[in-house]
Amino acid sequence: MSNRARWVMPMGNTRSSAFTAPHPIYLASGDGAHVTDVDGNRYLDFQNNFTALIHGHGHSSVSEALCRQVPIGLSFANPTKTEIDLAELLCGRVSHFEHLRFTNTGSEAVMMAIKAARALTGRTLIAKCEGAYHGCYDPIEVNVSAPPIDWEDDRRATLQHDGLPTTVRDQTIPIAFNDIEKTERALSAYGSEISAIVVDPLPSRAGLICVSPDYLAFLRRWTSAHAALLISDEVLSFRLAYAGALGDGPIRPDITAFGKIIGGGLPIGAVAGSADVMRVFAPSSDRPHVAHSGTFTANPMSMVAGHAAMSAMTENEFTRLNELGADARSALRGALQSVGVTGAVTGAGSLFRIFLGVAEVSGYADVFRAGSASALGALVRAMQDRGVMISQVGLGAVSTPMRPDDINRLAAVFEEALRTVSVSGRLAPDTTP
Ligand SMILES: Cc1ncc(COP(=O)(O)O)c(C=O)c1O
Repeated sequence: MSNRARWVMPMGNTRSSAFTAPHPIYLASGDGAHVTDVDGNRYLDFQNNFTALIHGHGHSSVSEALCRQVPIGLSFANPTKTEIDLAELLCGRVSHFEHLRFTNTGSEAVMMAIKAARALTGRTLIAKCEGAYHGCYDPIEVNVSAPPIDWEDDRRATLQHDGLPTTVRDQTIPIAFNDIEKTERALSAYGSEISAIVVDPLPSRAGLICVSPDYLAFLRRWTSAHAALLISDEVLSFRLAYAGALGDGPIRPDITAFGKIIGGGLPIGAVAGSADVMRVFAPSSDRPHVAHSGTFTANPMSMVAGHAAMSAMTENEFTRLNELGADARSALRGALQSVGVTGAVTGAGSLFRIFLGVAEVSGYADVFRAGSASALGALVRAMQDRGVMISQVGLGAVSTPMRPDDINRLAAVFEEALRTVSVSGRLAPDTTP
């Protein structure tokens, strides 16, 4: 399979994040909490398409909604009732969502949120947290996996990839996640030149650690004082609760970019906020206007799948799922302890992330210091060989078809894989007292 793929695609696939050496596992199908590869091997799936599949695979009401929609229309140039249905459901859950607009991906949602902030403020600069990933849009692709910033010295942005214009370095100000003092210092030089601060309430690549209430309150105060916008990127963290990551809290972002679970497994993204802010997307002769289109935006397939998936996510179902997530995190920590390997497990809600080589992860510097990619890669492969899939970076997501037995299996396989990999000498023994 991978040989065929290499003839037609660089490295044999279409997603940088899906590549694993020497080649990725090609999947054939999924059912409930499991996936099956092209060789017939079955795995318990904690990847869930990088957390997007909150119901795992083949959820009956999502499948039925899609089957009903297929014969009556896949996509149209005109709007349909399906997008009103999903927009109503989402605005009905989050009190600060008055108006909403769909996009095709989370990256596009973040892009539209930044464009909105720039249009509304007439400014170019944005600030984003070191280590946070916000998708593929030039100004936000800085300091995702670069070496930690020396906050006393050069705080300029580091471009994440080749292909980005060097001007991006002058457009984006990196700030220190959950560190008010360093962030205030980094922002102080720019004051009223900043259009928006983008914050992910649970940034996966920065450690899958929750934003602290004090930090969030500081960002809200700072943006309000400087007439800048606060953008909450909940593409991943909308999974945390019925009303998303910040929906039930006291801090209201100006714009929320979200996606993943709201598409029921199909491509989607969305931006939402107050009617006043969101009016920037409505053509107007006397106000700033951001053009936003897209051939497949709000296509009925994504809309009906999303509506079915989100309807099934009642408040009780979020509670049940998040309890399973908490059980998974504590079982994984228990396994690290019983094998005696230095490591940490972070996360919240139905999400977990495993780190090796550090006993605690409290920020991006710890993520960077964490065990070598080769140790984690070996661990992920050893788990895969035993029929459990988590992502290459140690990220996992619990899905609704999972039951306590599945969490027990995750922990047992993790422990067995740790023992195998630690015997090979690739893991540091736990030296914490
Ligand atoms: C926080 C965050 N923002 C944005 C994105 C980009 O979303 P998409 O992959 O749908 O473009 C992701 C994807 O993982 C994400 O986790």
